[in-house]
Amino acid sequence: MNNFQYKNPTKILFGKGQIENLTTEIPDNSKILLLYGGGSIKKNGVYDQVKKALSKFNIVEFGGIPANPEYEILLKALKVIKAENITFLLAVGGGSVIDGTKFLSAATLFEGETPWDILSKNIRTLKGMPFGTVLTLPATGSEMNSGAVITRRETKEKFAMGGPGLFPQFSILDPEVVKSIPQRQIANGLADSFTHVLEQYMTYSVNGLLQDRFAESILQTIIEVAPAILKNPADYDAAATFMWSCTMALNGLIQQGVPSDWAIHMIGHELTALYGIDHARTLAIITESHYTLNFEDKKEKLAQYAERVWKVTDGTLEEKAKAGIKKTTTFFQSLGIKTKLSEYTTDYKGTAEIISKRFEERGWKGIGEHGKVTPKLVEKIVEMSY
Ligand code: NZQ
Ligand code: ZN
Repeated sequence: MNNFQYKNPTKILFGKGQIENLTTEIPDNSKILLLYGGGSIKKNGVYDQVKKALSKFNIVEFGGIPANPEYEILLKALKVIKAENITFLLAVGGGSVIDGTKFLSAATLFEGETPWDILSKNIRTLKGMPFGTVLTLPATGSEMNSGAVITRRETKEKFAMGGPGLFPQFSILDPEVVKSIPQRQIANGLADSFTHVLEQYMTYSVNGLLQDRFAESILQTIIEVAPAILKNPADYDAAATFMWSCTMALNGLIQQGVPSDWAIHMIGHELTALYGIDHARTLAIITESHYTLNFEDKKEKLAQYAERVWKVTDGTLEEKAKAGIKKTTTFFQSLGIKTKLSEYTTDYKGTAEIISKRFEERGWKGIGEHGKVTPKLVEKIVEMSY
C-alpha cells in the first residue's frame, strides 16, 4: 500500500428529519446565502423544511444554479455575497448546486486577479468561506469531498477545482428527498457513483487488500440497490443505501493508499462541455473504450473485479477481464443509459480530434494511473466510443 495522510472534516447528519438540525449546525448570528438550483426544492417540500429550520437566521436567497454550474451565473451570486456581507453559504441541491457553492466559497476569499484563475490555473483553495449542504440528489459525493467542477458556457470549458479548504462543514443526507428525483437523475446517480469507484480501483494492485474490498463492496451494493431504487424511489431503505453508497464512493476513503485513474472523468467532462450530455452518461460512453485500449495495464484488476463483483468464474485472466468490461457496459444499459456517443448527438464526427487537441493545448501530456494516456490515445478512446 502507498503512504497516505487522510483527513475528512465534514460532519454527516444522516436520516429522516435531519433537516431540522440545520439550526444547530450553523453558527449563531450568521448571515446566510441559501443557494439552490432550478426549483425542484420548491416542489418537493425541501425548501419549506429548510426555511422552517432556519427561521431564527438572517437569510438571503440565490436560486437558478443550473446543472453543470455555470461560471457567469455564479459571478452574480458572488456579487450578492459581497453586497450583502454574507458569512455562511448553504447549498440545497445536487452536485451542481454544491459545486457552485464550493466555487463561491473559494472565490469570496480569493485574492488573485480573476476568479477564473481558480479554475484555469487550477489554484488550490486552502481556506474558503464556511458552507454546509442539504443534499437532494445522491450521485457526485460532493457533499463529503473538497472538489468541484465548473462550466463556462461561452468557451465550452469545464474545469475541476478543489483543495482542503473546500470540505463542507456539514452535510445533511435525508434519504426521503430521493422520492421526488426523476428516473433519469437516479440512473445518473447510480452510474456516476459506480464510475467513481471504478476510477479509484481499476488500476493496478499495490496490495491494498482492504481498499479493494471497500471498493468492491460499494460496487456490489450499487448493483444490488439499482433495480429497487429505479422501481420505487420512495422505498426508504433503498434510498438510504443508494445515498450512502454515493457518498462513500467519493469521500476520499477508498482512494487512500492506492493509485487512481480519473481518465474517464477527464474525457467525459469534455463531452459535457461540448454537447451538454449529462455527466454520468459521458462516463458510460467512455468506460468501455478506455478499458479496452488500456487493457494490458488494467487486466489483473479487471479480472479481479469480474470475479469478485460479477461472479465470473470461467476462463483465463484475459477472458475474465474482458467479461468485466462487458458486464460494466451491460450494467449501464440496464439503468437505461446509452453507451455510445452517436446515440446522444449526430454531430459527433471530429470530437476525438477536438478533445485530443484541447488536452495537448492544456499540456495534459499523459493522464491515467501511469500517466500513459496521451492526447493521441485519448483521441483513439473517444473515436472508439462513437
Ligand atoms: O436544479 P433543480 O431544479 O434542483 O433540479 C435538479 C437538476 O435538474 C434535479 N434534482 C436534484 N435533486 C432533486 C431533483 N429533482 C427532483 N427531486 C430532487 N430531490 O436534478 C437535476 C440534476 O442535478 P445536478 O445537481 O446537476 O446533478 P448531479 O448531482 O448529478 O451533479 C452533476 C454535477 O456534478 C459534477 C458534474 O460534473 C456535474 O457538473 N461532479 C462533481 C463532482 C464532485 N464535486 O466531486 C464529481 C463528479 O464526478 C462530477 O464531475
Ligand atoms: Zn463523476
